[in-house]
Amino acid sequence: MPEQLRFDCYPEGSTSKASCERRGCCWLPDVKGDPARDPPLNVPYCFYPALYPSYIVMNVSDAEYGKTLFLTRVYASGYPSDVPLLRVDVKFETDSRLRVKIYDPLKKRYEVPWPQVPDVRTAAKNPLYEFDYSFRPFGFRVIRKDNGQVVFDTKDVGSLIFADQMLQLSSKLPSSYIYGLGEHQDNFLLSTNWRKFTLFNHDRLPQEKLNLYGSHPFYLSMENTGRSNGVFMFNSNAMGQYCPTLYFGGSQLFFFFYSLNPLYYGFVNVLIQPTPAITFRSIGGIMDMYFFLGPSPKDVIEQYTTLIGRPHMPPFWALGFHLCRFGWKKLSDSEDALARTLKNQIPLDVMWSDIDYMDKWKDFSYDNESYAGLPEYVNKLHAGGLHYVPIIDPGISSAEEPGTYLPFDEGKELGIFIRNVTGDLFIGKVWNPVSTVWVDFTHPKATPYWTNQLTRYHMQVEFDGAWIDMNEPSNFYDGEMHGCPKNDALEQPPYLPGVEGGKLAFKTVCMTARQHASVHYNVHNLYGFTESIVTNFALTDIRQKRPFVISRSTFPGQGRFGGHWTGDVVSTWNAMSKSIPAMLNFNMYGIPLVGADICGFNGNTTVNLCKRWSELGAFYPFSRNHNSEGNVDQDPAALGPDVVRSARTSLRLRYRLLPYLYTLFWKAHSLGQAVVRPLFFEFPEDEETYKIDNCFFWGAGLLIAPVLNEYDESYNYLPAGLWYKLSDGAIINSTGAIYTLKPPRGAPTLLVRGGHVLPAIQPAQTTTEMRSKPFEVIVGLDHRGEAFGELYWDDGDSIGTWEKRFFNLIEFRVKDQKLRASVNKWGYESTMNLSRVSIFGVTVRSESANVTRVVVNNGTVSSKFVFDQRSGQLDITLFSSLAQPLTVEWS
Ligand code: GLC
Repeated sequence: MPEQLRFDCYPEGSTSKASCERRGCCWLPDVKGDPARDPPLNVPYCFYPALYPSYIVMNVSDAEYGKTLFLTRVYASGYPSDVPLLRVDVKFETDSRLRVKIYDPLKKRYEVPWPQVPDVRTAAKNPLYEFDYSFRPFGFRVIRKDNGQVVFDTKDVGSLIFADQMLQLSSKLPSSYIYGLGEHQDNFLLSTNWRKFTLFNHDRLPQEKLNLYGSHPFYLSMENTGRSNGVFMFNSNAMGQYCPTLYFGGSQLFFFFYSLNPLYYGFVNVLIQPTPAITFRSIGGIMDMYFFLGPSPKDVIEQYTTLIGRPHMPPFWALGFHLCRFGWKKLSDSEDALARTLKNQIPLDVMWSDIDYMDKWKDFSYDNESYAGLPEYVNKLHAGGLHYVPIIDPGISSAEEPGTYLPFDEGKELGIFIRNVTGDLFIGKVWNPVSTVWVDFTHPKATPYWTNQLTRYHMQVEFDGAWIDMNEPSNFYDGEMHGCPKNDALEQPPYLPGVEGGKLAFKTVCMTARQHASVHYNVHNLYGFTESIVTNFALTDIRQKRPFVISRSTFPGQGRFGGHWTGDVVSTWNAMSKSIPAMLNFNMYGIPLVGADICGFNGNTTVNLCKRWSELGAFYPFSRNHNSEGNVDQDPAALGPDVVRSARTSLRLRYRLLPYLYTLFWKAHSLGQAVVRPLFFEFPEDEETYKIDNCFFWGAGLLIAPVLNEYDESYNYLPAGLWYKLSDGAIINSTGAIYTLKPPRGAPTLLVRGGHVLPAIQPAQTTTEMRSKPFEVIVGLDHRGEAFGELYWDDGDSIGTWEKRFFNLIEFRVKDQKLRASVNKWGYESTMNLSRVSIFGVTVRSESANVTRVVVNNGTVSSKFVFDQRSGQLDITLFSSLAQPLTVEWS
C-alpha cells in the first residue's frame, strides 16, 4: 500500500505487532514511522489494510429528506463498546447543504444542544451535490454534480469507528488547500504534512500545535477548479484531527470533522495527511456532518453561518478603539492612561478594567480603596462620549463568610453551580487565593441568576459591555484540589486526544463534573458559548441597547452573541503576524468581531513592534490594546512619539472608514458574509492567492497590507486588477505579481480596489462625536471606469434596527464619469450630509488627461475640486444631503 494511503490504526501510540494485528491491521515498523513516538505523526507503521471491514450496509430506503441507511458492524474496532447498529440519515437539506448524520438508533447518545439546527424534513429540489455510497464496507462520497469533483470521500480509507468513546472517520480531500479547524495558532493555509489538531477548549498562551481557547470543527477547502466547499463536524466532544494525505498528486481536499457530544467528553482530534486526506476522531457524541457546496468560498461561509447563526450587529461605538491593561493597580492608573491618550489626540471609545478593579477578585464588586470613585469615573467617561467595559470571570468565590457575598449565596441556593461526581459543589480555584465555584450556564436558572448579579452591579457601576474571560473554563487546579475521580472512563478515556497536560482535566473542571445539560465531558467545549448566550441576554435586559460581549472561549454559533479576542498572545513579531490568520479564521467561523491584543499581551513589547502592531491593530474588526501585569506600559502615549504617530494616524484612518466597516458588519449580520477576508475569497480563480496571509481585505473593496517585520516595506502579491493607494491615489495596475509597498508614515498600505466605492466619514476623537460629522465617499474606478458601493446607517445602538427596518441604505454607482447616490431605504430619520468625494483612477478611461469641470446635482449644489493629473485623483468638496438622490459629474 502506498505510504500516502496508510491511515493510522493505532493513534494511541505504543503499539506492538500483536496489538496491531489484533485490530486486523498491517504492521510495518521498518518504514519511516518510529514506534517509540506517541503518537507517530508521519507515515503510520500500524495501518488499515485496503477494504478494512468495519460497518456494512444492511438496508437502504428513500426518505422524504433523502435516504436512510442502516449499518451493522462486522469487525471489532479494538475500542470498548462498538455500537453494533448505526443509522445514517442523509438529508438533502438545501441545494447547497447536505447533512449526513450517523448515530445509534437504539440508544440516545449526547447530541450538541446549541446552536439549534433545523430539523429538515423534505429534500431540496436541485442539489449541487450527489451522495454516493458503497456497501461492504460502508463508505460515502459527496460529489459536486456539475463537474464531478469529489469533495468528500470516505470509501476505502481508514476505518469508520463508532464506539462508545471513540468515533473516527477518514476522507480523501479534493486538494491540499485546507483552512480552519480552530482554534489554533498557525498559518492560514494548513499544512497537510501529518498535521494534527486537537479541539478541546483550553487556557494557555497561544503556541503552534496546541489546543487553545475555542473549538471550531469546520474546514473550508479550495478545489482545483477554484470552487470551494466547507465541512462542519457538529460535535462538542474533544476531538483530534489529522491532516489529509496527498492523493494521486492531483486534487486535494481538506476535510474537517467536528464533533460535539454532551454525554461523553467533548473534544475532537483532526489529522490531515499528505494524501491529502483528513481523519476526525472524537471521544463522544455522534457524527453529525454538514457539507456546504459553495461554490465560491464566500458562498460557503454564508451557508455555514446560515446554519450556525449569523453574526450579531455590534454597537457602533464597539468599532472604536479600546484601551485596557492588566496591572492598572489603582483607578488613577487607568485615568492617567486615558488622559495621555486624549492629550495625544488618539481616537478612543472604550476604557476597560481588568481584574485589578475587583475587591479580592470577587465578581460584581470593586475595591473601595484602590478603585474608589469607579462609578463616578464611568459617569465621566459617558459624559465624554466614551464607554466602559469590565472583565467578568465565570468563577465565583466560595471563600466568603455566609451572608457576606450574595453572588455565592444566591447561586448556591438556586443550585446553579457546577457539581462534582458526588453531587456536591465542584470547588476549584481561579485568581481568588482560596476557592472558586463555576456557574453552570446550561442551567435554566443561570440566566435569571446571572442577570440579577449583573443588574445589581450595574446599579453601582454603569458598564456598557462585558469581557468574559477564563471561560474554557480555566482552573488553577487540575480538577478539584485533590484532582478528579480515578479509574473513571470519562477522566481516562480509551483514546485521549492530544490535549496539553496529558489529561482532560488539566487546568480545568473534571470531566465527571455535572452540569444541567450533561456531564462536563460532553459540554466542556460549550462553556464559553453558553456564558456568551446568557451574558448577551442579561446585557440586553439591563441596558435595553445592543449588547457587547467579548469572550475568550468560543464555539460555532457564538458570533450571534458576541465577539472574541485571541487571548494571551506574546509580544513578538511572529505572534503579530499570526494574528492575521486568526482574524481570517474567526471570520470564517462566523465571529467577525475579533482582534488580538495590540502590541501583544505577554512579555514586554518594544517601540518598533508596538508601532507596527498599532498600525495593523487599527484594522482588526475589534481593536484593543491590552497588556499583562508586570510589563512596561504599552498604551500608545506611554511609548513615545513613534507609537503615538502610528496609533493616531492609523486609528484616524480606521475611524474615517468606519461607515464602510459598519456596513460590512450589517452584511455579516444580514447575509452571513465575512467582514475580513483572505485574498482568495475575492479571487478564487487565482491559485497564487491561496497561501497568502500577510494582508487581508475589509469586505471586497479595501486591501490592508501591514508591515510585519523590522523593515519599512511590505511585499505583497496583488491579484490582477486596478489598485489605488488611499494615501496618495497612486495606481497599481497589477497583472498578478508581487509588489514592494512602501507604506505612508504611521499606517499600513491601504489599497482601494478598482470597482469599489467606500463610504467614509470625517474622523473625530470618539465615534459619538463622529456621528454628527459629514460623510465622504471614496471611489476606485475599474477598467471600465465604473464602481459600486453601499452605506448602511442606523442609530448605532438600538436593538434590531435592521429587522425593524429602522435604517438607511444609500447606494453609490459610478458610470460614464458620473456618481449617483440613491436612497434605497430611509427608515432612520437623521442628518446625513456628504462633504467630500475622492475618485481614484479618473485618467484610466477618460479621453482627456485633465478634469476641467465638476457638476453636482445639475449645478444646484456648489462644489470645488482639485485634480492631480499625475495620479489621476479627483477630490471634490461639496455639501449636500444624502437623504435625496445626488449626482456628481466630471469632465
Ligand atoms: C487572562 C486573560 C487576560 C487577562 C488576565 C487577567 O490571562 O486572557 O487578558 O488580562 O487573565 O484577568
